[in-house]
Amino acid sequence: MKHYCVIGFPISHSLSPQLHNSWFKKFKLRADYVAKEVKPGELSFFMKNFVKNFDGANVTIPHKENIIAHLDSISEEARKIGAVNTIAKKGSKLIGYNTDVLGALQAIKVAQVRLKGKKALVLGAGGAARAVIYGLSSKGARVFILNRTVSKAKKLAREFKCEVAENDVDLKSFQLIINTTSVGMKSRETPLPNLKNRLGSGAVKRPVVMDIIYTPLMTKFLKEAKACGCKIITGDKMFRAQAAASFKIWTGQTKPL
Ligand code: ATR
Repeated sequence: MKHYCVIGFPISHSLSPQLHNSWFKKFKLRADYVAKEVKPGELSFFMKNFVKNFDGANVTIPHKENIIAHLDSISEEARKIGAVNTIAKKGSKLIGYNTDVLGALQAIKVAQVRLKGKKALVLGAGGAARAVIYGLSSKGARVFILNRTVSKAKKLAREFKCEVAENDVDLKSFQLIINTTSVGMKSRETPLPNLKNRLGSGAVKRPVVMDIIYTPLMTKFLKEAKACGCKIITGDKMFRAQAAASFKIWTGQTKPL
């Protein structure tokens, strides 16, 4: 029997256990998957017994960057991104991967958004933002970062060779806007207040708007974007694609979706 988990805080909203357990069943694999609430100061303690208790894991808010110090090695892509969302055990060694990048790009591709030469605004500068920024840049988009803590946006902009957006940036100039912050998950808040006024009325082409939050599926941010006439990409698209990529790393099964 193999054991997997998702580590994060908050974690009760996570649909990863449900999804992975359904795939284990579908492929008749003897494995289970649970959610583990690990608060910010508890990661070191939790990781002490990880190898004994688990064969792999997903890592989510707020541990995607800090987890790296607890792993034996990480993939080239995870190293470039600077964040890990998937852990696999090889022998007694823990290897880190990043499947968020593939998940984000797949969600964007399915919505038929071409990225080369396009202007994209990324909200947030955490671990999830790193994967999204890396993915967008690798496909030739011109990326701008807007974050509550400006110093973190500046640091990422230097690292990924992209730009920092000011709070009053002209939203109409973007073809794609992606929320990678946790704003809208617990509360009915939006990471980009005043969207309607800022996008303006008239016959301008609207940006495609994506949220990586999937609970709720229709965040206030996406509702407002839809009301403005924007094409929207809900968070379940990236969630399912990153999960499928993690599942492949653990089991070799390529087509759970
Ligand atoms: P993850 O690994 O999932 O990206 P994270 O590293 O904790 O999680 O990053 C969370 C992101 O959401 C950050 O960009 C954070 O902004 P700060 O850098 O200013 O902390 C953003 N965020 C979280 N709560 C927020 C709030 N109430 N308002 C604005 N931004 C918020």
